[in-house]
Amino acid sequence: MLVKAGTVIKADCLKALTAVADNSIDLIYLDPPFFSQREHSLTKRDGSESYRFSDNWQSMAEYINFLKARIALCKIKLKPTGSLFLHCDRSASHYIKVMLDEIFNSENFQSEIIWSYRRWSNSKKGLLSNHQSIFFYSKTADFKFNQIFEDYSPSTNVDQIMQLRVRDERNKTVYRKDNNGDSVLAKEKKGVPLGDVWDIPYLNPKAKERVSYPTQKPVLLLEKIISLVTSPGDIVLDPFCGSGTTLVAAKLLGRKYVGFDISAEAVKLSEERLANPVKSTSKLLEKGRESYRKNNPEVESAVKSIGGVPVQRSKGIDGFLTTKSGMVPFKVVFKLEDLKSSAQLITQSSAKNKFQQKALLAKFQMKNSEVKKVESEFQLIVFTDLKELSEKLRR
Ligand SMILES: C[S@@+](CC[C@H](N)C(=O)[O-])C[C@H]1O[C@@H](n2cnc3c(N)ncnc32)[C@H](O)[C@@H]1O
Repeated sequence: MLVKAGTVIKADCLKALTAVADNSIDLIYLDPPFFSQREHSLTKRDGSESYRFSDNWQSMAEYINFLKARIALCKIKLKPTGSLFLHCDRSASHYIKVMLDEIFNSENFQSEIIWSYRRWSNSKKGLLSNHQSIFFYSKTADFKFNQIFEDYSPSTNVDQIMQLRVRDERNKTVYRKDNNGDSVLAKEKKGVPLGDVWDIPYLNPKAKERVSYPTQKPVLLLEKIISLVTSPGDIVLDPFCGSGTTLVAAKLLGRKYVGFDISAEAVKLSEERLANPVKSTSKLLEKGRESYRKNNPEVESAVKSIGGVPVQRSKGIDGFLTTKSGMVPFKVVFKLEDLKSSAQLITQSSAKNKFQQKALLAKFQMKNSEVKKVESEFQLIVFTDLKELSEKLRR
């Protein structure tokens, strides 16, 4: 290879790619501008640095031709066992897929990976866009692939996991029985082979690895791609490396790496990140989405019974109700002896968020005097009757 592994080069990748030896790269991941038709810019939280790149094009044809020239070169640089992953979104994904089929041949199309994540909506008309696509092509049919297994879903029954299954004469899947009619245990099962929808959180504003580069991708996403098609010591190339996420993930996994970017600031930032590679862990991935639910399903069903929207990550607020005067947070209480502490909790949480109104929903009979006392002491509206609550509060 003419370009040395372990380097980040400031250049148009079209030019830089010509200096890479043919058939020398194991994985190329590209995260080019997406045809968003805008300038991307972001300033570091301390205001010390600002990063930008342009994603404005005359036409789709101009954009696709830009990519095509670079991806055609990428293919030449891949080893026969190598693969290319191209990251894009709905702005141009369908045009890109057709172009990739032409360059790689559709039989080398392996997968369209959907990177899915949750995010907050603005209330624009239409569906909230919460995924991006990554097209996976191999150079040849003889590509390197490391099967990754995931845990069984909670709804998988134990028989499916433990027992050997075979196809019957009608090609239906059935459990194998031995001569005595007993079930036969399966040999070792490793879990479910990794699918093509990946639920990986978007980097949150406080994530350790966040460097304020516009459209920065999570290291966890790149680690998954790299682990899938390379081994330690293999070489990974990112022609649009931006803040260097791919290179950091490659380094953390013991792969060699090369990065190109047309922006000098991006190259400097990549080098800084590589000197001190950091990866944020995801509590959500480690513990699962369900772990964010409050343990008490009774609370959740009470919230839903009055048409409220449940809130999971607050000690003081169990849900919100939409009312004539806006959103009213409320807390559910089940026992008289919890009344005071619950009132304290919702008062604290609401003060932090400066809510005008707040309510307690007491799921037990209370004397009028008790209601009045909590109401005045904590400036709360207390409801003991669901019907009354809906009538008073809801639109
Ligand atoms: C979407 S960003 C990449 C973000 C990166 N994956 C990350 O996690 O930080 C696209 C990058 O492509 C770079 N770029 C645009 N045109 C280029 C070109 N012709 N050659 C190399 N880099 C280019 C931009 O400077 C920008 O950093």
